[in-house]
Formats: sequence, C-alpha cells, structure tokens
Amino acid sequence: MRLLLISFILAVALAGSASQWQSRTIYQLLTDRFARNNGDTSGCGNLGNYCGGGWVGIMNNLDYIQNMGFDAIWLSPVVANTDGGYHGYWAQDFFSLNSHFGSEQDFINLVSAMHSRGMWVMLDVVANHVGPVGLNNVGSINPFNQQSYYHPYCQIDWNNQWSIENCWLADLPDLNQTVPYVKDQLLNWVQWIVTKYNLDGLRIDTCMEVPTWFWSLFSQASGVYTVCEVDNGSINVNAGYQGPTDATLNYPMFWLIKDLFQSGQSFYKVRDFKSQEESAFKNVNLLGNFVDNHDNPRFLYNYYKINRFQNAIAWSMTWTGIPILYYGDEQGYAGGNDPYNREILWTNLQNTNSQMYQFVSKVVHYRKNNQIWNYPVIERYVDTNFYCFTRGMAMMAFSNTDNNLSYTVSYHPYKVGDKLCNIFWASDCVTVTSSGVPVYLSQGEVKLYQLSN
Ligand SMILES: *[C@@H]1O[C@H](CO)[C@@H](O)[C@H](O)[C@H]1NC(C)=O
Ligand SMILES: *[C@@H]1O[C@H](CO)[C@@H](O)[C@H](O)[C@H]1NC(C)=O
Ligand SMILES: *[C@@H]1O[C@H](CO)[C@@H](O)[C@H](O)[C@H]1NC(C)=O
Repeated sequence: MRLLLISFILAVALAGSASQWQSRTIYQLLTDRFARNNGDTSGCGNLGNYCGGGWVGIMNNLDYIQNMGFDAIWLSPVVANTDGGYHGYWAQDFFSLNSHFGSEQDFINLVSAMHSRGMWVMLDVVANHVGPVGLNNVGSINPFNQQSYYHPYCQIDWNNQWSIENCWLADLPDLNQTVPYVKDQLLNWVQWIVTKYNLDGLRIDTCMEVPTWFWSLFSQASGVYTVCEVDNGSINVNAGYQGPTDATLNYPMFWLIKDLFQSGQSFYKVRDFKSQEESAFKNVNLLGNFVDNHDNPRFLYNYYKINRFQNAIAWSMTWTGIPILYYGDEQGYAGGNDPYNREILWTNLQNTNSQMYQFVSKVVHYRKNNQIWNYPVIERYVDTNFYCFTRGMAMMAFSNTDNNLSYTVSYHPYKVGDKLCNIFWASDCVTVTSSGVPVYLSQGEVKLYQLSN
C-alpha cells in the first residue's frame, strides 16, 4: 500500500511537465478513425461523419502504437459534440464525454492502460468556439447557454488579428473569454478535465483565435504541458504564444519541410531558419514537430515520393523539438483535404511489416536509444541537396535529390577508425578515416548513423 502510494505520488509529480515531455515521441490519432470498439474492420462510407472508432478500440491496439516506440498519444477531443462532430471540435457539453466513442469508464480505462505501459495522454482541447448551432440556439450548449457569452457574428479577416480573435471561425459560435463567466468556466473546466481523467498534456486548438492573456491563465490552470496550434507559417507569430503556453506546433517547420523535401529548395535555408527560431522562441526544445496533421492534405497527397517522405519524417523526428507522427503516415496514407486526410486505420492494424511502419519504428527507437533530445543539433555539412547534422554521437544525413550523392564529412565528433552503421540497412557501415566520414546517399535516401564500436 505504501509503495503504491509512493509510486502514485511520483507519477503525479513527474508526469506532464514541459521538460519531461522533451523525451517523448507522440502519435496523433483521431479516435473516430483508429479502431472500432468491437474490432469490426469493414469500411466507412462517409469520412465526413462518424465512422465508428472508439476508446476501447484504441486500448485494444496500443501494441500497434507502442511497438513503433511511441510513448505518448495525442487524442482528438473527447467532450460531447453537436451532430456530426466525429472529429471532436464541435463541443455541445463541455462536462460530458462523447458517447459515440464509448462510455466514460472506457475512457478512464484507456488512460490507465496507457499509463501502465508508461505512455502519456495528450488531449486535444478547444476553448475558442462551440459546435455550429447558430447564435439563436446556444441554449443547447453547456455551460455556455446565453448569447451574451459569445462574440457577435462576423467573418474573419485573416489579415487582421483583432478580427481573428473576435470573429467566427467557419461559422462556429465564438466564445468571448473577456466575459468573466466564460473565462471562469473555461478555467474550471480545464482544471477539471485534466485532474478528473489524469491527463499528462494538452494540445490546444485555435490559439490565434483567442487573446494570449487568456492562454496564460488557461495553461496555468491546466497544470500540464500545453502545445498550441498557431496555424501560421511565421516564426515570430508562433513565438508570441510561447510564454502564454509551453510551446506551439511547429508550423514554420511544417513549411520548411515542404520547401526542402517537396519543392527541392536548397538546404542552405536551414541556417536562417535555425537561427531565427532560436532567437524568437524562448525554448525551441518544446516545439511540436510534424509532417502531417488532420488539417492539411498529407505529404504524399501533394507529392507521392516515398524517399522524400522518409527524409521528411526522419527530419521531423531528429531535429530539435518533440516529434508528432500523424496516424496513417506509418502506412503511407496519401489523403487530400479534410476529410480525405482522416482515413480509417483499422484496415491496416495488422500491417506492421509495411515499409513505412518499419521505417517509423526504426527512427523512433533511434531517437530514444541515443536520447538525442539531450544534445543540440550541430550542422556538420550543408550543400544545396545535402544536409548532415549530429546530436551527441548520432549522425543524420538527408538528401532532396534523386541523384546519388557522395560526401566526406570532415567536421564530426568521431575518432579515426570508428565504425558507423546505417540503421535502415544493417550491413551498410563506414569507417571514419583521417579525412572524415564517407557518406554515400543513393537516389534520395536518408541515413541515420549509429556508432557501433
Ligand atoms: C466581450 O465581452 C466584454 C465583457 O463583457 C465586452 O466588453 C466586449 O465588448 C465583448 N467583445 C465583443 C467583441 O463583443
Ligand atoms: C500570420 O498571421 C499574421 C497576423 O494575423 C498575418 O498578417 C500573416 O499573413 C500570417 N502569415 C502567414 C505566413 O500565414
Ligand atoms: C545510383 O546508385 C545506384 C546504386 O546505389 C545505381 O543503381 C544507379 O545507377 C546510380 N545512378 C546514377 C545516376 O549514377
């Protein structure tokens, strides 16, 4: 009993702080799309509505996620939604759970199953708006059932920050956080949901649409790591939300990755990017890096090249920050605009031998085995189509051309005679010579090198 109590206190004390999250690797999923509670793997006729996934389904398939090395899951919002809110972003009742996904006990069981495996729960939460009921029908929204709790309707002008904060996103009734009741209820709610369900972190939706003073209070009230969605490619705009919250999703890097690995732009631009992020953000180690998410067409939809995709995924997982993989990327999904980028996963839950599943698994384990979050990114070689960096003794080499590349990386942390092996091809090893590390990339591949002495 005493041991149990001590481990409970330890778990509570350790879980969820920003610095603890740095060592995590996050798998993002939409509960409605991952696995059905009864294991039914038939298709889904309409991706624009509920397809039938649920919390028991996730719980029954945690091996699929954990075997790739992930130790946290970003779950789509759980509160009860208005009709058609399969994604979770259309709250109807903040204080009850969405029964399409299962019972409250199912959700509690999922969280404890994850915790007993050492996996953390990052919940997606929305405080900007409620479901699309129209101002006249907000009486049906709990606890925001008065028109005076909302901003008057107006359409967002995306060039005007006041308008972004005060007007309605996609015709969704927009909460006015300046109204004391609204502010207090939202702060109580976030405290309630984190403590009641024992959550470890939050992904906060639509941060640009609410003033930063509110996010400071909200983030503090939550008591856990918070990462904010600021859907804007500007480093400076994103940086304004770190402080009020712990970090943002790294949208500037999302665009950099497209520039490098889809448009084939020169790797020299990484230098400016790195120095700009490091000077704008208070702590770049806490940013959430991603290649895909539920709001954008998938990488492979725009550009079906597996070698570039693998470079992009490996980049997002080894660069400074906390990596997030969007479910389905490990099966090479290529869906386009919402809802086509929100495919069902259950037809692939047995498919753990697929090329991308194996690739992701190797990268995530490499990250963890080398604890690369403890080491800064050091540029070792840059050329138009080639970039090489190290973190500690881990070395990564990227390319964005299908030409074969051959480089000798002379600035490196190794000793002459050290042997380095490519984690994707066990027999592909090189020996460090007095001129450096010979790096050969064939037809656009990425290599992650492991010191093997
Ligand atoms: C939001 O609520 C505050 C406090 O009631 C009020 O002063 C302000 O005008 C409201 N904002 C808008 C855009 O209606
Ligand atoms: C970012 O947001 C600012 C302020 O709303 C806006 O002016 C700018 O156009 C946006 N930039 C990008 C790259 O989306
Ligand atoms: C690139 O290397 C591969 C083997 O690694 C070879 O099959 C191919 O012909 C090479 N391509 C060019 C253009 O040299």
